[in-house]
Amino acid sequence: MFFNVPSWNLGEPVVDAKKKGAKKTVKESQPDAAPRPTNIPKRKEKVEREKSNPAKKSRSVEPVQHKIVELPQTKGKSKEESKLSGARFRFLNQKLYESSSNEALSYFRQHPTDFAHYHVGFREQTKAWPVNPVDLFIDRLNKRLNNEKLLIADLGCGEAKIAETLHKRAVVHSFDLAAVSEFVTVASMTDVPLEDSSVDVVIFCLSLMNTDYTAALAEANRILRANGELWISEVASRFDGKHGLDEFVKSLQTAGFSTFERDTSNAVFISLYAKKHSKAKIDAKRLKPILKPCLYKKR
Ligand SMILES: C[S@@+](CC[C@H](N)C(=O)[O-])C[C@H]1O[C@@H](n2cnc3c(N)ncnc32)[C@H](O)[C@@H]1O
Repeated sequence: MFFNVPSWNLGEPVVDAKKKGAKKTVKESQPDAAPRPTNIPKRKEKVEREKSNPAKKSRSVEPVQHKIVELPQTKGKSKEESKLSGARFRFLNQKLYESSSNEALSYFRQHPTDFAHYHVGFREQTKAWPVNPVDLFIDRLNKRLNNEKLLIADLGCGEAKIAETLHKRAVVHSFDLAAVSEFVTVASMTDVPLEDSSVDVVIFCLSLMNTDYTAALAEANRILRANGELWISEVASRFDGKHGLDEFVKSLQTAGFSTFERDTSNAVFISLYAKKHSKAKIDAKRLKPILKPCLYKKR
């Protein structure tokens, strides 16, 4: 079981519907110009197919029709309400780091409004950041989309900002534990309803949270095409210094990925870019979890 419903879970209705000492960006090697696989349809066809049936290509999970969870209002909150909201966010954040993917999925299925509260809290956090890594990923994708067709999987998409911004230019599949937007398909990142070797870019933006996140890396390897790219951004403190970052890059190698770029230019986040080099089925149990949980101080 995930965790008991805290006493403050009021369950609102669900509706239908620059751093000091900045480091650098290191290119470890240039990514090869990967040939496009011939079995991937042209963008227009893909967009049409996805529009008509967004997650038909199910592997083991048939996504259920989920209601969209409405985000609660944040304007006009009293100090006490804001404090409570912050405490709720920190509690849910910690629980996400302490749960397996299935436990988290099952919890938010039962308590979807907690997911909305988590995201309101997350949005508040991001306001204080000099830059939001999801925006850096969007910029990078935007440039690539000038001359490439990409099928993107955003695993742990939150409010699905990537799909919202780029859905007219690319096919973006967005997955999370609950849906706060029509772009989101509810599924665990450890069991994504996409075919093997079908995706060009897999993105984990601040989303490798659960205790079994290594299973999500194995899943990313499964859905990526040969030479497909894995983009990860995580809070720098999760890597436990340079040693931790090197260890994580090594663990990516074991998960079938060669890192070609490390962006440590930001004080808060580290972004890694890697390519799938191994077609062999990755056994997640053999991957050692390296990342530390990112917990917020209680106030
Ligand atoms: C910190 S938020 C970041 C959201 C978004 N990527 C962004 O950058 O705005 C992390 C998201 O990952 C999702 N997540 C964590 N574990 C997951 C899992 N096992 N499967 C799907 N989503 C997951 C959480 O529910 C949450 O929405």
